[in-house]
Amino acid sequence: MPLHGMSSLTFGVPNIAEVANYYEEFGLSTTRTDADGTTHLATVEGGEQLHIARADRRRLLAMSVAADDQDDLDRIASRLERLELTVSRGEGSITARDPGTDVVVSVEIRPRIVQAPAEPVDYNAPGRNPRLNLRAPGIDRTGPVRPRKLGHVVIGSTDQPGSQRFFTDGLGFKISDIVKDQAAFMRCSTDHHNVLIQAAPITMLHHTSWQVDDVDEVGRGATAMLEQDPGRHAWGLGRHHIGSNFFWYLKDPAGNFSEYYSDMDCIVDDELWEPGVWEGAKGLYSWGPKPPDFFLNPVDLAEHMINAHG
Ligand SMILES: [Fe+2]
Repeated sequence: MPLHGMSSLTFGVPNIAEVANYYEEFGLSTTRTDADGTTHLATVEGGEQLHIARADRRRLLAMSVAADDQDDLDRIASRLERLELTVSRGEGSITARDPGTDVVVSVEIRPRIVQAPAEPVDYNAPGRNPRLNLRAPGIDRTGPVRPRKLGHVVIGSTDQPGSQRFFTDGLGFKISDIVKDQAAFMRCSTDHHNVLIQAAPITMLHHTSWQVDDVDEVGRGATAMLEQDPGRHAWGLGRHHIGSNFFWYLKDPAGNFSEYYSDMDCIVDDELWEPGVWEGAKGLYSWGPKPPDFFLNPVDLAEHMINAHG
């Protein structure tokens, strides 16, 4: 696949400082702040992967995905033009806007992210005890949880089939799983999903997801965030069905959800992966608490709709 990963996202929020502070506590590191207040934050291995800019309402302004070389950019640009979209060509990048999600997507030539292997974790199990005479490493960890990289983003589109075409036929994302008439889980890397587009009455950013080493880090990260403010809890701990990952969702001060995840399905051979078609909420989770209504139907959505149409 010419694409090889997610580079970065640009959030628009009414109050940059409070949202940037939240993602600092979440484990990202602020690298710089522009004169207009736009703040840039980095993950451990992905570099600057979150840009927070000012907007009247919370939304995803832009997304950047990574490709290997100029040939990739040229091929993607001509596919987007075949979909009758306007493509701007820059130095080492191309940019087009997906009308359904109202997100400006750039494809940039970037080096592949090389991940250092996580500390091996031996879990004892019936009849198989690889960890003998030792306490579990997860209980002794004390440092702050630091996401390794940006994993995925979930956005709402007012034209779900059109946005799906933009990402697959245009950019070259692969479909990993489908929720019938509702959503597509798509990948531009070996992660099960990097972008999920769901049908929505208004363009919206639902959540972003950030990779940590293992389920202990998911739990430790969320616990630390809730110690600062228990009102941040959204949904977790659980394990998704589609993508298989452990998850815990928290809510940022603008109303976007942010997820710590680990152990997601990894697809390296497209021929060996069979995309599934799921119905309704069935594919959502294997175990965990019931998702709260505000997670499935964000409470500020109705207000945004009035503002958008009024
Ligand atoms: Fe997610």
